Amino acid sequence: MNIFSENKDFWGNAIDSRRSVRSYERTALSLETIKKIQDFVPTVKLPFSNEVKIVFFKTRENHSLANNLKKPPEDAVAFITDTSNFYNVTAVGFVGQLVLLYAQGLGVSNCWFGHYFLDEIEQLVPDIDNIKGANRPRFGYGKGKVDGVHAVCVSPLGYFKSDGIRAKDRITSSFISFKWKPLDDLLLNGIKEISLPDALRTAFNMARKAPSAANTQHWRYLIYSDNKTVEIRLTFDTCLKL
Ligand SMILES: Cc1cc2nc3c(=O)[nH]c(=O)nc-3n(C[C@H](O)[C@H](O)[C@H](O)COP(=O)(O)O)c2cc1C
Repeated sequence: MNIFSENKDFWGNAIDSRRSVRSYERTALSLETIKKIQDFVPTVKLPFSNEVKIVFFKTRENHSLANNLKKPPEDAVAFITDTSNFYNVTAVGFVGQLVLLYAQGLGVSNCWFGHYFLDEIEQLVPDIDNIKGANRPRFGYGKGKVDGVHAVCVSPLGYFKSDGIRAKDRITSSFISFKWKPLDDLLLNGIKEISLPDALRTAFNMARKAPSAANTQHWRYLIYSDNKTVEIRLTFDTCLKL
């Protein structure tokens, strides 16, 4: 048993209803909701070691967190790790997405932001290394390998504001959200969805709906003939064997 099989409907609904939200009511989450999400964090176990730290923080009213997030909700979360280690950065994606899906299941909208305003995040989030010097980026923690402990991404946590939705949000939700590659395009070695056992087909069809920056879906699955071992290959330089 794992957290998914114990509550399939909860996770299935969270995955199917999820989309990145960039327009929010300025409403705080209840203490009960925040506590539920915080209590969920230590239950996430990955099949590889990692050092992901998750920090919940309050935003400042009318202070942008990112270009696409001029009016953040009151609550947000930062996914922090030592970014000199590529596996730590990768782990942020796995742990972070489970936490954000759990929030979604509780009705709390969210959106990954890698392109956050560094000035704002360094002020609000404790215990991250300040980036100094000529190469200091304006957005995110920088490109390539960056040493030190940084927020890889942040996410607002709040409730969707349907009126006054910004044009950018409208464009992003109509052109990008809910547009994923078909599973066949993500399977390596010529494996076709139709040949997979039901359980694998269901699992991969959920996995393919994971968010990615600009919905680029930079991952491919190599399923071994035992139908148990899977390599997740990134379309750049490395892979994870699970
Ligand atoms: C690691 C990561 C970083 C992202 N960074 C940003 C960002 O900086 N700004 C933004 O507007 N959206 C960002 N997104 C959200 C993606 O644009 C979004 O997931 C994608 O367009 C698919 O839409 P969906 O999440 O609604 O399915 C990011 C997503 C991921 C996974």
